Amino acid sequence: MTSKHVLVTGASRGIGAAIATTLAASDRHVWINYRNSKSEAEGVVASIRQLGFDASTLQFDVSDRKACAAVLGACIEKHGGFDIIVNNAGITADVPFPGMEDEQWDSVIQTSLGGFYNVCRPLVMPMIRKRWGRIVNMTSIAALHGNRGQVNYAAAKAGIIGATKSLARELASRGICVNAVAPGFINTGMIEHISKDQIRQIVPMGRAGSVQEVASVVAFLCSDAASYVSGEVINVSGGII
Ligand SMILES: NC(=O)c1ccc[n+]([C@@H]2O[C@H](COP(=O)([O-])OP(=O)(O)OC[C@H]3O[C@@H](n4cnc5c(N)ncnc54)[C@H](OP(=O)(O)O)[C@@H]3O)[C@@H](O)[C@H]2O)c1
Repeated sequence: MTSKHVLVTGASRGIGAAIATTLAASDRHVWINYRNSKSEAEGVVASIRQLGFDASTLQFDVSDRKACAAVLGACIEKHGGFDIIVNNAGITADVPFPGMEDEQWDSVIQTSLGGFYNVCRPLVMPMIRKRWGRIVNMTSIAALHGNRGQVNYAAAKAGIIGATKSLARELASRGICVNAVAPGFINTGMIEHISKDQIRQIVPMGRAGSVQEVASVVAFLCSDAASYVSGEVINVSGGII
């Protein structure tokens, strides 16, 4: 096993799978977190191993604080925690606000914002002891601009930005950089209900981004090259500013 351990939440498909694959290529052991999609997560591990790199699956629901504490506590005991954490797991439950159900509010907030807390809180002290670390949190341009039907999602992702900036200040003197990445429209299952025409009208580059275009930015933020970058929100949005 390689010495640097990486956790990518929600890595069984989409943006998380691309981030995991890209980070594994720099000789790190990448832990592929998922909630339900076991076979997809195992597929990501298999394809990383086929490329000659290290990966394993790690099942837990980021919105379940007890499960996070149990699984991540065992990881700390086993290999001392993680050097890089990518808080990527997120869901949408879009609906105009007057019709929003409590469950739609709670599940979206608990996954994105709660997930950030449930994952980072137990892992941050071991990272501080190592005096080196990278935390990248997945937000969205919806947090910066707002979006109809996404009051829950935009609130969760805006919370992530505040948490990123505050944690960056707290950890700056410990060699730990904390940043956020704000994708626009990225080709995954999350945007399959949006037509190409709609995307052409909204995005200055006239197309959706690829998962690799997000993963490349995350890889930079996780590298030594980004050692003086912290508390930033980097848009990966094809020119939506
Ligand atoms: N795609 C876009 O256009 C876009 C734009 C802006 C921001 N984002 C953000 O980028 C991130 C990834 O999005 P994506 O498009 O790649 O989404 P996706 O294709 O729907 O994949 C979501 C991933 O998150 C996992 N997940 C969901 N809930 C979880 C939980 N409670 N615990 C652990 N894992 C969980 C899913 O695994 P299971 O199937 O096992 O649940 C899956 O691996 C999200 O935070 C999203 O909000 C995406």
